[in-house]
Amino acid sequence: MPRFRTLDDLVVAGKIVLLRADLNVPVKDGRVTDATRIERLAPTIMSLIAGEARVVVMSHFGRPKGVDPSLSLRPLVAPLSRAIGGRHVSFAPDCIGPEAKRVVDALKPGEVALLENLRFHPGEEANDTGFAAALAELGDVYVDDAFSAAHRAHASIAALPRLLPAAAGKNMQIELEALTAALEAPEHPVMALIGGSKVSTKLDLLKFIMTKVDRLAIGGAMANTFLFAQGRPVGRSLCEKDLADTARGILYQAADRGCSIILPDDAVTAEKLEPGVVTRTVGVTAVPMNAMILDVGPQTVAGITAALAASRTLVWNGPIGAFETPPFDRATMAVAKSVAELTRSGKLMSVAGGGDTVAALAMAGVTDDLTYVSTAGGAFLEWLEGRELPGVAALTIA
Ligand code: 3PG
Ligand code: MG
Repeated sequence: MPRFRTLDDLVVAGKIVLLRADLNVPVKDGRVTDATRIERLAPTIMSLIAGEARVVVMSHFGRPKGVDPSLSLRPLVAPLSRAIGGRHVSFAPDCIGPEAKRVVDALKPGEVALLENLRFHPGEEANDTGFAAALAELGDVYVDDAFSAAHRAHASIAALPRLLPAAAGKNMQIELEALTAALEAPEHPVMALIGGSKVSTKLDLLKFIMTKVDRLAIGGAMANTFLFAQGRPVGRSLCEKDLADTARGILYQAADRGCSIILPDDAVTAEKLEPGVVTRTVGVTAVPMNAMILDVGPQTVAGITAALAASRTLVWNGPIGAFETPPFDRATMAVAKSVAELTRSGKLMSVAGGGDTVAALAMAGVTDDLTYVSTAGGAFLEWLEGRELPGVAALTIA
């Protein structure tokens, strides 16, 4: 993997550091409901503070079209301050121009400011060089700690690091190192576990990942499309029937490349997706016409668990069943626990990511047991598709 600059390559004492963060955290009724991204940013801020930098945090929040007070970053000042031990965080009501400059200029070494939502300016998403230059005017060096936004070719991610000395923050560094360890130079056998509802959103991922792994287990509703493609009955299950040829193509390519595919052998079915509904567990050749496949059955879980035990590295994206609705959480919970156990005992290096996957791991209570859990959704997927992420490319030393 190409090398990228880190905080160790930057001199920050007395300098104004523009720190691109991803504070696009879930907020409900003005409260942050999951502060993971803020907590993971804290070590970078603390390290910059220790280095006597003047720290200017910038981020997007939501997808505003122009200025939208309901998507202000101001409510993030308090959670950010809490994450860095209660240190004061000043707020600039704009991210460029005189208001931003006034707040930034007032910073002393070791102090922190947060700028208003970058996406209030259309230049951000347009990757506009003029807007990037207006940001660059505020600072001396640039640090990107927003891996979860690295798939966006936006001004603060792509254009700005070309204008200032740039480096990866600690969170970005850990994320890149974990993903590299899992896909570029992993210990074999490598297994991928890919779930979720639609094959259509994960076609590129499946095609790329099968070139990298020794075995690929497919779960979630997307497995139904593969079962259908093999002539299995899927009843009223979610299934992209128009992708049957594509699914057969993927199975064929995988076989050709020596990547073994693990598909469900049995399924937990029900007539509707409702908590506590009556279920029937059947082999995949016997799914009733009026039923939906909502989880994989115990035989499939045993197969996946055995494959995990025979692997050294795991990349996991997407739940295996409709885990938000019990009892269809069983397979996902069982597999999460088995991944956690194998990782804890040093037998498996495990990397997982994606919003639903992170929620499922939290539900199983095993988030901290995996080798690495990424907070990135889209960026994690694009990485698994083998794509170059603009935010990573901008930090890479040629
Ligand atoms: C995310 O939460 O996935 C990132 O912050 C990127 O946000 P976006 O999908 O609105 O670009
Ligand atoms: Mg997103």
